[in-house]
Amino acid sequence: MKVVESRLELQRLSDEERARGQRIALVPTMGALHAGHLSLVDAGRKRADQVWVSIFVNPTQFNEANDFEGYPRELERDLDACRQAGVDIVYAPGVDDVYPQDAQTWVDVETLTLPLCGASRPGHFRGVTTVVAKLFLAAKPHVAVFGQKDFQQLAVIRQMTRDMGFDVEIVGGAIVREPDGVALSSRNVRLGPEARRQAVALVQALDAVEAAAASGERDSGALLALARTHIESAPQARVDYIELRDPDSLETAPETLAAATLLALAVNFTPDPSGEGADVRLIDNRLLSFDRSRATEHHPSGDSQ
Ligand code: PAF
Repeated sequence: MKVVESRLELQRLSDEERARGQRIALVPTMGALHAGHLSLVDAGRKRADQVWVSIFVNPTQFNEANDFEGYPRELERDLDACRQAGVDIVYAPGVDDVYPQDAQTWVDVETLTLPLCGASRPGHFRGVTTVVAKLFLAAKPHVAVFGQKDFQQLAVIRQMTRDMGFDVEIVGGAIVREPDGVALSSRNVRLGPEARRQAVALVQALDAVEAAAASGERDSGALLALARTHIESAPQARVDYIELRDPDSLETAPETLAAATLLALAVNFTPDPSGEGADVRLIDNRLLSFDRSRATEHHPSGDSQ
């Protein structure tokens, strides 16, 4: 496995591999790799000859300095995980390789970024789309794989890819969960033990709404109230948003639900009363499929663009 720190070197390798007829899948990450990331590597391998992983904690997508500084950084452990997963190349650049000192250029998706995480994290998606565009230019992949836990991020990246004309197939990887149902996230390790136990409230809310929808409940107010009851049963949980949205446009869902609808949650957890853990924001989602009276975590139009 090669570890590359320079964008120019990565571009050179990409040109070489493409000339040899190799198909490249890129899995962009911010490191602190877990089984969720490794499932994206597997998804990439199914669609390409080589899987490349980028590991870069992107400063421009963080709203708070504390969150950026506290973000877990475990490069050696991540490189081992990539080696074991059969990754071909890891691109692990420094900030200067991605953002030249006097950089002034941003890639910004205007509308899809306004609701949900965009409302509470202004500028976050501009940082994401800018770095992903730069990663596409550096790695020149045929395919790029992103997790569906970040549903809005995936939608925004699909839009950016179309708008910018990148010749990259965007693939959404299914959410991977802990045995208790909590979605895997690099942020989970920052929860105190008590907050970690309470984090199960998110998936319980998703399950309860899915079950109610499957039994015929179509009223969005009733479903949102049900989700809120579950989240608020966790003493350290502070709801950021609980929303039902159209999965493509991300517009607010109608009062009476009839078509596939995204239930999206963002919840802040406070540190444990003992002082353990940090303030941690968790997100999760479920795609509810009303027309067929069942729900699924997969995108209705398939898992690739
Ligand atoms: O999902 C992430 O880890 C990041 O937002 C991404 C896509 C790697 C961009 O920094």
